Amino acid sequence: MNKSAAAKRLAELREQIAHHDYRYYVLDEPEVPDSEYDRLYRELREIEHQHPDLITSDSPTQRVGGAPLAAFDEVEHRVPMLSLDNALTAEAMVEFDRRVRERLGRDGPIVYAAEPKLDGLAISLRYENGLLVQAATRGDGRHGENVTQNVRTIGGVPLRLHGKDWPAVVEVRGEIFMPKKGFDALNERQRTAGEKLFANPRNAAAGSLRQLDPAVTAKRPLALFCYGVGEVAPQAMAQTHSANMAILARWGLPVSPELKVLQGLAACDGYFDDIGRRRAQLPYDIDGVVFKVDAVADQQALGFVARAPRWAIARKFPAQEELTVVEAIEFQVGRTGALTPVARLQPVFVGGVTVSNATLHNMDEIARKDVRVGDTVFVRRAGDVIPEVVRVLPERRPAGTVAVRMPTHCPECGSEVVRPEGEAVARCSGGLFCPAQRKEAIKHFASRRAMDIEGLGDKLVEQLVDHALIRDPADLFGLDVDTLAGLDRMGQKSAQNLVEALDKARETSLPRFLYALGILGIGETIAATVATACGTLDAVMQLRLSNLVDIKPSQAARLHELLASREDQDTAMVEFADLPGAKWFTHVHAAMLAERFATVADAVAAGAEALANTANIKIEGVGDVLAEKLVTFFRQVHNAEVIEKLRNAGVNWPENLPARDVGSSPLSGKTFVLTGTLSQPRDQIKEQLLSLGAKVSGSVSKKTDFVVAGAEAGSKLAKAEALGVPVLDEAALQRLLAGGDAMSL
Ligand code: IVH
Repeated sequence: MNKSAAAKRLAELREQIAHHDYRYYVLDEPEVPDSEYDRLYRELREIEHQHPDLITSDSPTQRVGGAPLAAFDEVEHRVPMLSLDNALTAEAMVEFDRRVRERLGRDGPIVYAAEPKLDGLAISLRYENGLLVQAATRGDGRHGENVTQNVRTIGGVPLRLHGKDWPAVVEVRGEIFMPKKGFDALNERQRTAGEKLFANPRNAAAGSLRQLDPAVTAKRPLALFCYGVGEVAPQAMAQTHSANMAILARWGLPVSPELKVLQGLAACDGYFDDIGRRRAQLPYDIDGVVFKVDAVADQQALGFVARAPRWAIARKFPAQEELTVVEAIEFQVGRTGALTPVARLQPVFVGGVTVSNATLHNMDEIARKDVRVGDTVFVRRAGDVIPEVVRVLPERRPAGTVAVRMPTHCPECGSEVVRPEGEAVARCSGGLFCPAQRKEAIKHFASRRAMDIEGLGDKLVEQLVDHALIRDPADLFGLDVDTLAGLDRMGQKSAQNLVEALDKARETSLPRFLYALGILGIGETIAATVATACGTLDAVMQLRLSNLVDIKPSQAARLHELLASREDQDTAMVEFADLPGAKWFTHVHAAMLAERFATVADAVAAGAEALANTANIKIEGVGDVLAEKLVTFFRQVHNAEVIEKLRNAGVNWPENLPARDVGSSPLSGKTFVLTGTLSQPRDQIKEQLLSLGAKVSGSVSKKTDFVVAGAEAGSKLAKAEALGVPVLDEAALQRLLAGGDAMSL
């Protein structure tokens, strides 16, 4: 066959095959038997084999073309891909319709277009001059991933639009999904191959679309329904959504056969009920119905709020609920250290999936629902969201259950767990060390405003951690050119550059370094104020809660009274919080007292004065909550070790002498006056106080923090009492000194 004859035949074959693909995949009405299709396909492939220069990108043989990718590129959506507001009830639908009519100033019924809401993933298909040039996932709505290679393998996606009347650029939006039959067949294949099964069609579709190797995607039974358009140029399409969909169908794109145009709310309700009844019979999973104002001009007038249009709504089917038993409650550590309680359930079939885990969100939720191990609970699965425990059946609670407690230590790394007052989320404080947080901690450490390690992007950090080349930020500084050059997408040159960048990053500043540690709640500004207030990293690391948190003498007196009247005297001070009668007393105050007293009994024995504390370091912006996060972070041995490693790796910064002597004792900065006859020589006591950073003065004034009164104390004691300065006897002083001593260890 000569070249021009070949070109002519190829064009015929491509058109025929595209036509049969359309009949088969889009219309579900094949015209010819598979054998006939295969014959055409083979002929096409043979001719292309003889004339490789005649292969075009829209040839059916080019659906699986590309080589496996290392990663997906990012794609910008010039017209953002929006999401939808949900209506969970008929009332919410009424509200939606009312808002639409109000905004449009209409009295009569609105014309809506209705389509089932498919449970898959949103996709954007870009056609230029009729050819498919790009397919991208939704991502965050503005940036998605380029999955063109994979989408080309989907039989129902035309590589070239039919007809001729398409605009130069048209971006088609739709949902990629896996029909139920295909899903079952895929799982059957997975089972025979001993591979892992997919939980549901949605997960299978998502997993299939995100394969780096298009050959894998090609084997997955994916399908598409189009439900909108994005960028269209140079001229817009039709005046209604439904007309636009008809045009897409004409171009050979799959559009839902269920699409209907409806007049007013009642018709919408009818449609919703009808689809609901037929839901199980539909060949794909749906989780509701999408209603859209049909007229494009009205859509434009309505616009959108945040990330959802005002002209559309997703009416969801009611969530499905089942009963099961909670077998265990465990805590998962997220990549930012957040601890999420998870219920392990006796497996139960809910909404088409077997559920054996359900989120309990956080401790407040557990307390609110009072979920315990052994409880019988309702679990709910709504669409694609994580199953959740809805409520407990108290009448089925077995005897002897106990309330769930937050672990005090991270299940991943053993660091302390902190849960600031008033915050719902508890977090692991082993930021630099915890395996669950490793990647995020290192990414943050390297980021521009932190250590500013040029060329160390997120992807690279992930590779380094995945290949176990680094475990913490300090390991970065031990990387050499050869190791780095061996990584994906790294050459000798970029490896060299990165090593140089690491070298450069070693010289930093204290504020940057503090920020880079990624301590919860310590942003750049706070890092800078802490650095200025303390001057050196050692000073920051030696901060104790008693340096930062106040308990006023009057509060101390009341606190002492309340603690003394408690029956739970053997409670560890650190666990003591929630003291009825002293609202101000939070677990941060308890933690501060725990620096000095092991139990409530010890605190009571020390006396009221010993409970008072005046913070000697005031750092703007560092309230009690932040103070706790800061102090807890440095108290974690693992964090301190990583910091030591960083210093040994040569990370350094100019240190200023501290503006004040930060000291390490709760007594530092306190002014004492000694009076009366004491059992030890006064100088000896004075020396002890000075060594703990306290000051000792000869006369009593308003600035005096404590007067220590021995036997036969006279005018100084009287003056102290007159001014309301706390007075300690020798025993109280000894306890204070002992506490102070313990602190400086
Ligand atoms: S319209 C601006 N129509 O639901 C409106 N979305 O929850 C954009 N979805 O991201 C969406 N079926 O992935 C529309 N018939 C349908 C849909 C549909 C499924 C998905 C879509 C969207 C998500 C929002």
